This record gives sequence, C-alpha cells and structure tokens, in this order.
Amino acid sequence: MSIHKKKEIKKITTHVLHAMKQRGEKISMLTAYDYSMARILDEAGIDILLVGDSASNVMAGHETTLPITLDQMIYHASSVVRAVDRALVVVDIPFGSYQGNWRKALSSAIRIMKESGGHAVKMEGGEEIEDSIKRILSAGVPVMGHLGLTPQSIYKFGTYTVRAKEEEEAKKLISDAKKLEKWGCFAIVLEKIPAKLAKRVAETLTIPVIGIGAGGDADGQVLVTHDLLGITKDFHPRFLRRYADLYSDIKSAVKHYIEDVKAEDFPNEKEQY
Ligand code: KIV
Repeated sequence: MSIHKKKEIKKITTHVLHAMKQRGEKISMLTAYDYSMARILDEAGIDILLVGDSASNVMAGHETTLPITLDQMIYHASSVVRAVDRALVVVDIPFGSYQGNWRKALSSAIRIMKESGGHAVKMEGGEEIEDSIKRILSAGVPVMGHLGLTPQSIYKFGTYTVRAKEEEEAKKLISDAKKLEKWGCFAIVLEKIPAKLAKRVAETLTIPVIGIGAGGDADGQVLVTHDLLGITKDFHPRFLRRYADLYSDIKSAVKHYIEDVKAEDFPNEKEQY
C-alpha cells in the first residue's frame, strides 16, 4: 500500500444538504464560472458551487442573463467540474432552453449533465414550468428551484426590486415552493424577498432553502463570487457584503507590473534563463 494515501474527501450530495438542514447547519453556496476560481472556492470548503447564468453579466458583460446560451453554460460548467473535489456543482439551465417546452427542457438538462459532468440543474419558476421540472426529475436529474426575483423574467418584472412584498405574490410564492418540494426538487433558491417570508418558507419546507437577499433565516446563503470579492464595482444592493476589494488590488498589482516593465526592472537577472 502506498504511504501517500490520498486524503478522503466527503463529497457534498443532495442527501448531505438535507442532513445539514435537519441538524441546523447552514449551507454555503457561491457562483463559479471557471476552473481557477472554482478550485479556490472548493479548497476553501464551499458546499455548493452554482454555475449561474449570471455568467452572462459577470463573464460576458451583458446587461441581463438572457443572452447566455446552453453551449456557453456547458463550457463554463465543465471548467468548474474539472476543478472540484468536494462541492456539489449546480448548473443553471439558461433562458430559452426549458420554458414552455418539456422536451426541450429535458434535452437541455441531459446535455448539461452529460457534457459538463455537473451534479444538478437549477430552473427559475414554479407552476409555469411544472411539466419541464417533472420530466427532468423523472430522468434522474436533481433539480434546484429558484423563486422570488427570477432574473430570466426581468422584462416581465421591469425592475430588480424586492419581490413578493404584496400578499398575493407572497401566497403564490409559498404555493410554488410547496409544489417544488412535492415534485421532488432537492432545494430552492429564494432571491430578493422579505426576510419574514423566506423564514416562513424555510420553516414550512423540509428541503433546504438558500437565500440571496432573503435574510438570515434561510437554511443557507448564496452570493455571486465576483460581488463578494469586490471584482464587480458598480453593484451595491443592501444584501451584499464585500469581503475583499479585488478590483483595487488587481488594478494596483497590474499598475505595478506596468511600471516595472517600463522601468526595465522586470525581469531581473534571477527571473531569466
Ligand atoms: O445566476 C446566478 O448567479 C443565480 C444566483 C443569483 C442565485 O441564480
């Protein structure tokens, strides 16, 4: 037997997440779109990596999440999967790849699972996409729901403000959340809704409820990594806590490099062959 025995890593599965909710352990989730970042986040111990369609904004510079394609999502997801030893990798099914057509939805989910090696998919919406969610689940693909502010419907909402503040929308959200659990979704993301409502949903459901801008009583939290690290600059929602200012750090490191190149200080004698 080799003395270099590889350390056993306990992988995060949907069952592990359920157990975490049961024992009251909060779940951590962040977005990742590429190999290098995913490796750092996985080594840091993140529970879930979301290959979010926010790649459309963060990676490609689009104003909304709508333009990103299934092929592009598969490219991002396969880069993330190659980096990960422990985290559960969840992949967003992008706009136009599942709405209104369960056959297309099933084919998109299967392509994601087969071609990227991701572990689960995420879909925005409730009863409107019932057929698609049920077909994907029946094919054995774990589905994470997403309710509240669902950015793929931004042109329906018109703004990125808090959702479900009114009674009627809150009722629909609770009913959708219950349905997602009943159909077999393994978890739900609640985005930008009142903290009280998120608490109620988390207490009602047995599956984990992950919040973004939904208060501290959800079973876990998700943020866009580039926001948390301060790489994105002009985004200041109330729910965001920045843990670093990498925009400034990277800019100042690059300025330093430029100065060294111009001053013929880089490379020095030790930095050449
Ligand atoms: O695409 C994304 O980053 C998301 C999170 C905001 C939950 O869906």
